[in-house]
Amino acid sequence: MKIFLDTANLQSIRMYNDMGLLDGITTNPSLLAREGGDPQKTMEEIVRIVKGDVSLEVVSTEYYGMLEEARKLKRYGSNVVIKVPMTPEGLRACKTLTSEGMAVNVTLVFSPNQAVLAAKAGAKYVSPFIGRLDDIGQDGMSLIAELRQIFSNYGFKTQILVASVRHPMHVVEAAKIGADVVTLPPDVLGKMLKHPLTDIGLKNFLADWEKLKQENPKVRF
Ligand code: E4P
Repeated sequence: MKIFLDTANLQSIRMYNDMGLLDGITTNPSLLAREGGDPQKTMEEIVRIVKGDVSLEVVSTEYYGMLEEARKLKRYGSNVVIKVPMTPEGLRACKTLTSEGMAVNVTLVFSPNQAVLAAKAGAKYVSPFIGRLDDIGQDGMSLIAELRQIFSNYGFKTQILVASVRHPMHVVEAAKIGADVVTLPPDVLGKMLKHPLTDIGLKNFLADWEKLKQENPKVRF
């Protein structure tokens, strides 16, 4: 399973990229707005830092506007993936951009039918938003299970990119189902790293080492 970071925060991106954890990045207009500053510079910098796929979203809602924005975004780097919304115009743009050799991520997907249509339009990634489904009392993860089955039934090449992830158990469940990618807010990735027994274990190892040094001052590492 690939791990993407779902953020436009450069500090988090650099930190987790340096740990070798990131296969890519997803951004959206809200994430860029959260960081402030010049969004174009931020997007360029993200594309420069991360080697894997970086999804950058168009903000036009009509076909020609999407194509124009996509071609500009693509100039930031060969790893740019164009994110388009799950709308008729978005699917039409997906088809055109794909036939021009661009990779497309269809975002704001909330049903199996939408995901099938995105795959048919040639998307490299389809992004079901599981947390937002959970928020309205639907089971987001069951959508991932349905998509895994449907895509496997027909050998669709489109990758299931689990989005709107809220907590580490979402990641475990998505991995058990066999999702291709999870995109994680930095705080969720931070929580995945941590376990109280790791902290207690390390503290005890270091305390025992200190004790050993005191009993035998010649001990060196
Ligand atoms: C995915 O590409 C989106 O950026 C993201 O996962 C949206 O998540 P949210 O529901 O937390 O805004």
